[in-house]
Amino acid sequence: MRGTLIICADYESLSREAARRFVAAAEESGRHAFNVALAGGGTPRRLYELLATSEFERKIPWERVHLFWGDERMVPLDHPKSNYKLARDSLLKQVRIPPKNIHPVQVNLPLEQAAAAYERELRAKVGGRWGFPSFDLVLLGLGDDGHTASLFPRSPALQEKQKLATTHRMPGTEPARVTLTLPVLNAAKRVFFLVSGDSKATALRTVVEGTGQLPAHLVAPKGELLWLADTAAASKLKGVRVQHAAAETVG
Ligand code: 6PG
Repeated sequence: MRGTLIICADYESLSREAARRFVAAAEESGRHAFNVALAGGGTPRRLYELLATSEFERKIPWERVHLFWGDERMVPLDHPKSNYKLARDSLLKQVRIPPKNIHPVQVNLPLEQAAAAYERELRAKVGGRWGFPSFDLVLLGLGDDGHTASLFPRSPALQEKQKLATTHRMPGTEPARVTLTLPVLNAAKRVFFLVSGDSKATALRTVVEGTGQLPAHLVAPKGELLWLADTAAASKLKGVRVQHAAAETVG
């Protein structure tokens, strides 16, 4: 596998390690904007909650933080499945981030128009490297099937090499979604995967072994690639020689 794999004792210590590294990355951005693409799904919830606690909140220059989403489901922003709602309820309502620094997908638009509008926002607000906007930090999860963001196995979105954001609509993965594309993920200065729970163990082993072309395996940023996994998610790595990765256990 590419990058560094850190195995944490449990979900809480994984979330704390991610929070510590979020703060460190924000500090490294100096006086510039700190552009972050947030992960969706459920795993990042505890990280977001921790970032809102006084232990971490006061260390983050929220006036310079700009939040985007790695992907968004095309549901209202107050819908239980909304990735925006996850961040709003666990983080945004509790910290002093200027509303203008929050850049959700415009889910009120038709799917294709939402992707195009998001692309325009990305081009306007995120500075570029290698011809693509380069996020200071992209947070990603890992699906049981090896998807990440809304880049699913066999999805045409995996082939997108020009657009910054594209659409996803596939039976079994409803609702439709807007997702960042691989070129944008791979232009990031840092990508952190957060992987928790034994349901992810097979997918994580496949990524670590590099035996399958899972979408998550295609995330190979020119910058830092960090996999934060808890012991449950890492449970099938026993006996798997972790190549090209510094495996250490924290927490
Ligand atoms: C989404 C997410 C998706 C998620 C994985 C893991 O909108 O569905 O972006 O890629 O990160 O499905 O989800 P959990 O964290 O809930 O296991």
